[in-house]
Amino acid sequence: SIEERITLLMEEMTLEEKIGQMNQYNGTWDFTGPRPEGGTEQEKFQHLKDGLVGSMLNVTGVKNVRAVQKIAVEETRLGIPLIFGYDVIHGHKTLSPIPLAEAASWDLEAIQKSASVASAEAAASGLNWTFAPNVDVSNDARWGRVMEGAGEDPYLGSQIAIARIKGFQGESLAANNTIAACAKHFAGYGFAEAGLEYNMADMSISKLYNSVLPTFKASVDAGVRTVMNSFNTLNGVPATGNVFLQRDILKGDWKFNGFVISDWASIREMIAHGYAEDESDAARKAIVAGSDMDMESHIYVAELVKLVKEGKIKEGLVDDATRRILRVKFELGLFDDPYKYCSEERENSVIGSEENHEAVLDMAKKSIVLLKNENELLPLKKSGLKIALIGDLADDKNSPLGSWRLASDDGTAVSVLEGLEKYAENQLVFEKGTDLAIGETAFVYETKINSTDFSGFEAAKKLAKNADIVIIVLGEHGFQSGEGRSRTELGLPGNQQQLLEEIYKVNSKIVLVLNNGRPLAIPWAAENIPAIVEAWQLGTQTGNAVAQVLYGDYNPSGKLPMSFPRNVGQSPIYYNNYSTGRPINKDNNVFWSHYIDAEKIPLYPFGYGLSYTSFAYSNLKLKKETYNRAEEIVISVEVKNTGNYDGKEVVQLYINDEVASLVRPVKELKRFELVDLKKGEAKTVEFTLTEEDLGFYDNQGQFIVEPGVFNIMIGESSVKGLSAAFELK
Ligand code: IFM
Repeated sequence: SIEERITLLMEEMTLEEKIGQMNQYNGTWDFTGPRPEGGTEQEKFQHLKDGLVGSMLNVTGVKNVRAVQKIAVEETRLGIPLIFGYDVIHGHKTLSPIPLAEAASWDLEAIQKSASVASAEAAASGLNWTFAPNVDVSNDARWGRVMEGAGEDPYLGSQIAIARIKGFQGESLAANNTIAACAKHFAGYGFAEAGLEYNMADMSISKLYNSVLPTFKASVDAGVRTVMNSFNTLNGVPATGNVFLQRDILKGDWKFNGFVISDWASIREMIAHGYAEDESDAARKAIVAGSDMDMESHIYVAELVKLVKEGKIKEGLVDDATRRILRVKFELGLFDDPYKYCSEERENSVIGSEENHEAVLDMAKKSIVLLKNENELLPLKKSGLKIALIGDLADDKNSPLGSWRLASDDGTAVSVLEGLEKYAENQLVFEKGTDLAIGETAFVYETKINSTDFSGFEAAKKLAKNADIVIIVLGEHGFQSGEGRSRTELGLPGNQQQLLEEIYKVNSKIVLVLNNGRPLAIPWAAENIPAIVEAWQLGTQTGNAVAQVLYGDYNPSGKLPMSFPRNVGQSPIYYNNYSTGRPINKDNNVFWSHYIDAEKIPLYPFGYGLSYTSFAYSNLKLKKETYNRAEEIVISVEVKNTGNYDGKEVVQLYINDEVASLVRPVKELKRFELVDLKKGEAKTVEFTLTEEDLGFYDNQGQFIVEPGVFNIMIGESSVKGLSAAFELK
């Protein structure tokens, strides 16, 4: 068995070699060329040859991977293969929509497929491990990494995490087109205070268990093989050095038997946090807490041997971490064939295949959310229209790739301009109107937040004035969301808002297409612009997906996975909030929970999204009014397509626990189903809840189910639906 093989191997290993397995290095250079002389790179090569490296990240491409693997297999004493990790976040070379966009599809099958395409491409380029899915629940649009998660809800997030893990890992890791997944970032990163990147997270135990941990628990239950910890502190303790999170919960309560990788240099960062005195102290605290592999801190390899020899840590900790890492390598089949991912033939045939492009296009269409469609302005006619296309993002072939585009080539996205040209015979004229970007790299990106360049406005206005309809593509550049891209404003960056208002003055027949990696605050547009399409950053096939939706070849069915605020001051804003003692304006005075300068509800709520058709809900039925704990609660509703197009609807079920020993959210999503309905067709959708769906975690981290009344709402969003109630005895 694998465990016996690990035991036999570990009997051969020196302490240094075991610690070597716990060391991961970055390698972004060409390994097929001459070996470096001097510097860190030479040291890394030396460590590779000495068997002091267990994993590499950012080495990709069959030739490169083979070259590095060869060192491990042929030049080290025991020939233990390396595991190659990479950020395959939403596709590898052929990019799917950013994960937040995919989440808007609520289509688990499509999301799983998208991850399996990513996995097949990554595996074909020699990789065997992705640092995905990001399962960080977050409700703060200021935080740039909301683009990488599945939004604000732990239930939706859990279902999507499971789909992604199944997609990446497939039926078996032993296949050559599946890779190990990594649930990240454990834990609390999405709750960084004020949406500020790398900031601390501080929350109650019940909040941790009810809001942050469910997606991780679901990932572990789905068999995720690795977990990455996070940069933040949680209640004062860095996640990387957090015994409670990693030892007690993850490896203890949840019995996770894969391994934990630190985030980049997060072991070292415990010194900057003021939690570790020096490198030795950081190494000790990280291993004691259950961080198994050190990503680029260079600290385990430097410090652990001494710590063991001086008796400051038990060798058993090293053995446990090594065993976990070797286990995943065995499961991947790397010991049977270290080069099993290294086939040039597969690399050439799989990466960028037509089939993969079709899959990401399908995902892209499903990710689009129709936010507004006054007087059925959309879909557009395919001929006879003079369309003015405006916006710096409209012809952009980079931005739609998003900020995690590591392996994809620059300029490979189909732009909206290209898509619109392809799918119709209308007359299309284009002007940027504004210039959003001043630089385009993953590491440095600033924007003209206070742009004073209005020189393009006149030309754009001229086109708009003479057009039948204006399509304006506005939003964030691909590098304005993602890691390191927190924002204090959530409006349209640069002078795009002014451009929009100027264009509106000359032609109000506008379709606003949004490209963004986070919820945006667009109250003026929501009020004035007749049609708004949320198109996020949709990856390689962006333009084709947008065009198919605008022209009605595809009827949008996406629903928002995060609430859209009216202004930044509302952040964090989320549907599953707690009621205050003064939720409504009962006494007609000022002393109730509200803002004096804006409404307190979001501009667009969680779960919201329109279609070109319409749906009617009726006949909400509960089998009984009272249930015992072990009984299944069956609820059904009828949904009818009452409009003029075939379409899909995400039917959503929310519960509310009326009275409990801890105040419960006003609503919690517990089930959803994507229903396909032909024009005029009706279907009955049935949901089954069990007592587990009705319980929650208390402040000791105990799961409890309490009797009492539960309200149910089934409908088209978190704010609209039919209601009923039942009692749990
Ligand atoms: O996987 C990422 C992580 O999400 C952020 N820091 C760097 C890692 C590796 O690139």
